[in-house]
Amino acid sequence: MKKKITIIGAGNVGATAAHWAMARCLGDVVLLDVMEGIPQGKALDLWQSGPLDNFSGKIIGSNDYADTADSDVVIITAGLARKPGMSRDDLLAKNVAIVKSCAESAIKYSPNCFMIVVTNPIDAMVYTAFKVSGLPRHRIVGMAGVLDSARYRTFLADAIGVAPQDVSAMVMGIHGDNMLPLVRLANVAGVPVTELLPPEKIAEIVKRTQMGGMEIINQLKTGSAFYTPGLAAIEMAEAVIRDSRRVLPCAAYLDGEFGIRGYFLGVPVVLCARGIERIVEFSLMEEEQRALNESVQAVAKQVEATGL
Ligand code: 2OP
Repeated sequence: MKKKITIIGAGNVGATAAHWAMARCLGDVVLLDVMEGIPQGKALDLWQSGPLDNFSGKIIGSNDYADTADSDVVIITAGLARKPGMSRDDLLAKNVAIVKSCAESAIKYSPNCFMIVVTNPIDAMVYTAFKVSGLPRHRIVGMAGVLDSARYRTFLADAIGVAPQDVSAMVMGIHGDNMLPLVRLANVAGVPVTELLPPEKIAEIVKRTQMGGMEIINQLKTGSAFYTPGLAAIEMAEAVIRDSRRVLPCAAYLDGEFGIRGYFLGVPVVLCARGIERIVEFSLMEEEQRALNESVQAVAKQVEATGL
């Protein structure tokens, strides 16, 4: 049966996600926003590109959650974006209210959906949506690791001079300055990157990955990244819709995994039709565990600030 994907927020990230959902033929798409006319106009425009890109799914724009009924996947992108000088935490209070209302309304119409939260600060916003939606933990994740890992892989591939798809590398932890791009496990077709690049170049790439979002904000001035964030959310949605068991880093609710309990944090998970089939737990080196614990402390502060 044809799947239904709802994308809440018709800004840059939401519209880009809608584009990828259509181009990858994931199903029918509802693009929803509070702004009248914006989702409708963007959806019409996108729908009309079908003949040129050989896709035939239907997309509608809406301001009414009734149109989202029985969605298989709901992606929340609504919220304010960061501007230069703003940390992801600065957005927190405003975006908590927005994400609460989106999650509450969406879950009324799609109680069995798989929910992906993209709004920043992601690790606290997915916690917010988890609390208000009542979804079980295997049905809700935050998008961050796929984006951060794509940045990390791009920078590594460029420095080594190989195709980005041959670089396997993962970023764990918070979607913030304390994120943890894993060096030990990064490789090119199985060859460790530590054999291919000097330590100072790797350190520079790790730093650039951690600041990847801000590097783009500083260029754009009026907003933040959207091409890769939008695609990253769809990469996750596709794994669920196609039941593909892809292993992707997602902000998942931890209940003792990696020694962490009660918070969402970026970890590798297996995604399938059920949602999170399992979290891929593995032994961390002492300094990796320390970095992950720093991530948790930062997320705990954000979660406290949500007042939930
Ligand atoms: C980023 O890292 C917007 O937080 C998002 O680009």
